[in-house]
Amino acid sequence: MSDNVILVGFMGAGKSSVGRLLARRLGRCFVETDDMITAQEGRSIPDIFAERGEAHFRALEEETVRLLALKSGDVIATGGGLPCRDGRPEALRALGTVVWLRGEFDAVYERAQRTGARPMLAGRGRDEIEALYRAREPYYRQADLTVDTTGINPDQVVAKLLLLLRERSTVSPSGRGPQDEPQPEARRVHQREGRP
Ligand code: S3P
Repeated sequence: MSDNVILVGFMGAGKSSVGRLLARRLGRCFVETDDMITAQEGRSIPDIFAERGEAHFRALEEETVRLLALKSGDVIATGGGLPCRDGRPEALRALGTVVWLRGEFDAVYERAQRTGARPMLAGRGRDEIEALYRAREPYYRQADLTVDTTGINPDQVVAKLLLLLRERSTVSPSGRGPQDEPQPEARRVHQREGRP
């Protein structure tokens, strides 16, 4: 069973910082799909966009989703556009628990502008970016869990997320719930409920 935790959300949602913290708390490896792509291509995301275009980048994301099938027990932060293709939310849910880091548009827009080099923001006005955000919401919404990040810092997001992950963990074979049986955090998350 793939028991990864997969973070999705718009640029600036905090996937990298939350993912890194969460992995540390759970004692798991942290992986970013953008890093997998830059390592494979030997150049940065802005360079890939500039030299090969967005369509090529999306094809690399497709390949990366296939490679994610080899991951087990990792915390995975995805690029903001990766889940936003038909069939992608289902493909990600097959790999583990998908978590949408949901933030108010104004907050994520401001953070996305402030941090990192993001080719999808270049040359686009605020209205255009908001339209992209709205168009992507239906894909993000298909996550297993949603954490509202509005007004809270990454530590607080991780605390909320850990609670949600624990709630999702199934009862133990003895029939007792996880609250009755102290277990390391990582094991509790491994014991997710199966999906219909
Ligand atoms: C993209 C988001 C970026 C990166 C690429 C495209 C997008 O990742 O994958 O620039 O289409 O939203 P972040 O969400 O980490 O910024």
